[in-house]
Amino acid sequence: MSFQLKGKVIFFATSNVNKFNEARKVLSRCKIAVGMIRVKTLEIQSESLEEIANISAIHAFKQCGLPLIVEDAGLFVEALKGFPGPYSSYVYKTIGNEGLLKLMEKSINRKARFRSVVAFFSGELNAPICFKGEVVGEITREPRRESHHGFGFDPIFKPVKSQKTFAEMSINEKNKYSHRARAFRRFAKWYKSLKV
Ligand code: IMP
Repeated sequence: MSFQLKGKVIFFATSNVNKFNEARKVLSRCKIAVGMIRVKTLEIQSESLEEIANISAIHAFKQCGLPLIVEDAGLFVEALKGFPGPYSSYVYKTIGNEGLLKLMEKSINRKARFRSVVAFFSGELNAPICFKGEVVGEITREPRRESHHGFGFDPIFKPVKSQKTFAEMSINEKNKYSHRARAFRRFAKWYKSLKV
């Protein structure tokens, strides 16, 4: 497959500056230029992050016609049988970190994982291409953050291989472990392998 657009800027359709900054750091290491674009993304209700990201990428592309990435992520808590998973955004907006900690008050099993699906779509493709990333960790007993670090569930998620929560890490540190960095690195590897 060859891409006329290879080497040009690609766009990350998101309204989340934190997500964009994390992705930008991963991509810039691979010498891929990325811009942030705020198009209205369509988030369907589905149990599959992949389906959500796919449909959202097609919808965003229809609005701007630019080669773009849409990412969908979720937090899957083992003791809650994978909840909130694809409903993470709604759960964060409604009960937030405090509410999730309350739901898990009596739970000894703190195991959880973040999953990310990055969907890339451009005019040359028939359908979006997806790349996945995952990180296993645990839900802390209390929120922990350094000032201004992190977003969303970051203050209550600690990867297994670290003593710090995501919200106690710099972006570069978070990118060593995170679901998003892993998905974007997979995307970057594929993108760099394309013939010009
Ligand atoms: P989204 O639908 O991909 O934006 O993510 C679903 C929910 O999970 C949102 O409330 C986000 O704030 C949260 N979330 C996604 N990725 C992360 C992350 O890397 N850290 C903390 N929370 C996240």
